[in-house]
Amino acid sequence: MINTKGKILVIDDDKSMLKSSMMILKVEGYDVEIEQESKAALERIIAGVYDLIITDIRMPNITGLEIIAEMRKRGMEEPVILMTAYAELPAAIDAIRRGAYDFLLKPFKPEDFLLAVGRGMRFSRLLNIEKRYKKQLEQEVLLKTRELKEAFGKITELNNEIMFRLIKASEYKDQETGTHIVRVKQYSVVLAEELGMPRDFVDKIAFSSPLHDVGKIGIPESVLLKTEKLTNEEFNLIKTHTTIGAEILKGSNNELIRLAAEVALSHHERFDGSGYPRGLIGEEIILEARIVNICDQYDALMTSRPYKPSFGHEKTYEILTIGDGRTMPSHFDPKVLEAFKNCSNIFKDIYDDDNKHE
Ligand SMILES: [Fe+2]
Ligand SMILES: [Fe+2]
Repeated sequence: MINTKGKILVIDDDKSMLKSSMMILKVEGYDVEIEQESKAALERIIAGVYDLIITDIRMPNITGLEIIAEMRKRGMEEPVILMTAYAELPAAIDAIRRGAYDFLLKPFKPEDFLLAVGRGMRFSRLLNIEKRYKKQLEQEVLLKTRELKEAFGKITELNNEIMFRLIKASEYKDQETGTHIVRVKQYSVVLAEELGMPRDFVDKIAFSSPLHDVGKIGIPESVLLKTEKLTNEEFNLIKTHTTIGAEILKGSNNELIRLAAEVALSHHERFDGSGYPRGLIGEEIILEARIVNICDQYDALMTSRPYKPSFGHEKTYEILTIGDGRTMPSHFDPKVLEAFKNCSNIFKDIYDDDNKHE
């Protein structure tokens, strides 16, 4: 007979019982296997090829109840029908509570036997449908999660690109190349890490620091690109790149853009209150801006301009930590300055790395 109605394993230490069960089931078109030895039967069950198990309760080695317990322990849900003598009835009822599907009192009539098997097979089919459905659902969730991740990745990529191009637009007018912006970001990350700031802080400063000079987009080129000494008026105009930057970035619903606005506004503030535009003192200036400030200064001193040479790392280090009259250590948060001293060699590496091809 072809296996059209499902695969059944019958277990009984009584051989004649096995034979008669097999005959009844085969006539009905079931694919039947029999096993007299319960230990071997359990191994066959664990292989997971049966739709329904029919087993005697009392057998040498492993009992029918133990077979059920072993199956459930392994998460196998296939229905099990117990064959039981009248004396074992309480045990059989208890077994239903522990996960047996049904029981048959021996001796049973073939029609009762087939009725129980039919019910068991229907249950087994439902279980399989449920399993397939669950699996399909899991795969769909997996697929959707992957699609979502991809979409999110694209949005992040797009965000970064828009930001990068916005920064580029602001640099267009400046003498600085885009590398200054990237270096300030790299120094800021190094310094934040040196200060022992958490990952979240480091990520946020990595996002906001490159936007610090975005306000330069609003400064006339004639002033921004001037190589001669600036007049007071012109210098005051340059200073407004802080407020213009904040103006461009302010009012966002996005926390990162709001932080970038505050960094743009405050990156020229000094710890001793001598900075601009608000003359904030000490911790009135957000830590992110205190970090970006020293990074910006380091890079400005390292970079040569038509009106000034590069000071080189040693001299720059000296100016920042001892002062030269224009730039003084009191401009910086002592904590941040200390951290800079500890990792200034990495600053040098970042700068050198970026300029080795020039
Ligand atoms: Fe600036
Ligand atoms: Fe800058």
